[in-house]
Amino acid sequence: MEQIALVENQTNTTYQRQVQERESDDTYAEIVQKYKKSKMVPWRKFVETPSFMKLVGQLTNEDVIDLACGEGFYTRKLRQITTGKVFGLDYCQNFIKMAIWQQGAANDIDFRQVDCSLPITNIPYQFDLVTPTFLLQNAQSEEKFEQMVQNIWNLCKPGGRVCGLNGSPFIPREQFDKDEKYGQVLSSNSDSYYKNNASEYSVRLFDKVADLDISLKVMWFSGEYYEQIFKKVGFQNFRWVQMELFENTDDIEYWKDFLTNGLILMFEAFKPLIMN
Ligand SMILES: C[S@@+](CC[C@H](N)C(=O)[O-])C[C@H]1O[C@@H](n2cnc3c(N)ncnc32)[C@H](O)[C@@H]1O
Repeated sequence: MEQIALVENQTNTTYQRQVQERESDDTYAEIVQKYKKSKMVPWRKFVETPSFMKLVGQLTNEDVIDLACGEGFYTRKLRQITTGKVFGLDYCQNFIKMAIWQQGAANDIDFRQVDCSLPITNIPYQFDLVTPTFLLQNAQSEEKFEQMVQNIWNLCKPGGRVCGLNGSPFIPREQFDKDEKYGQVLSSNSDSYYKNNASEYSVRLFDKVADLDISLKVMWFSGEYYEQIFKKVGFQNFRWVQMELFENTDDIEYWKDFLTNGLILMFEAFKPLIMN
C-alpha cells in the first residue's frame, strides 16, 4: 500500500509478489478481499459498524461526505441510506482506486484522492453530514489536526452535523492490552504518549479466523484537545459517544471489557444554523 502507515506483521512475500504481478483490477480485488475480511472481525461486526450507523441515524436525502474513506466501507453504507450526494475522500491512491472499483457500474459515489490535512479547495459543496471515519488520529501535528477540523467545518452546511469514529484518546499505558482477547493491542515507544499531543503509538489488529494481522501507526491527541479545537472552529455540543453491542447480546459478559473505556470511540458535533 502506498502512503499509508500500514504494515503487514506476517511477511507474506508470495502473496505480495502475486499481487504485484497482476493487472490492476485483479490487484485491487485481492487487496479488497483482505480489507473486507478485516471488517468482518467480531468487534467490528457486532460493535463498531452498527454503533456508528446508529449514531448516523436515519437519513433520507442528506448530502454526506466520508473523510478518510479508505476502500469505502462506510461510504457505501451511507450511500444506501440517502438519496443525496455522497462523497468519499482519502489521500491513499490505492484505497481510492479500490473504492471506485468496488462501486462498479453504480458509480453513484464521488471518490476523490485528497489529503485532508491540507486545505481542501476542490470540493465545491457543503454537506449535511461529515463523517471523519478514523481520520483525526492520523494528523501528524497539532497544525494538521486543526486543519483537518477546519476542513470538516468548511465542508459542513450550517445546521449540519459531524459524526466521527476514532481511536479513543482515553487509554492510559496500563490499559494498552486490555482488549487483547478481542484482537486489538496498543503499543508506544514514545515517552510523550498521554502527555503531549501528536504522540505516535501503534494499534495491532489481529484475528486468526479472518487471517488478519496488521499494525497501524496513529497519533494520540488528548480528549480535551479534540473538544477545544472543535469549539475553536465553531462547532457546538461536541460529545463523545460510547460503542454499543448489537446482535451478539447473549454474550454480554464477553463484551463487557470492550465496551468499558473501549479502544475505539465515536464523537458528534453540530454546526450552528446561524452564526453569532
Ligand atoms: C483505519 S483507515 C479507515 C478507513 C475507513 N474510514 C474505514 O473505517 O474503513 C484510515 C484511513 O485514513 C486515511 N488517511 C490518513 N491520513 C489521511 C489524510 N491526511 N487525508 C486523507 N486520508 C487520510 C488512510 O489512507 C486510511 O484509508
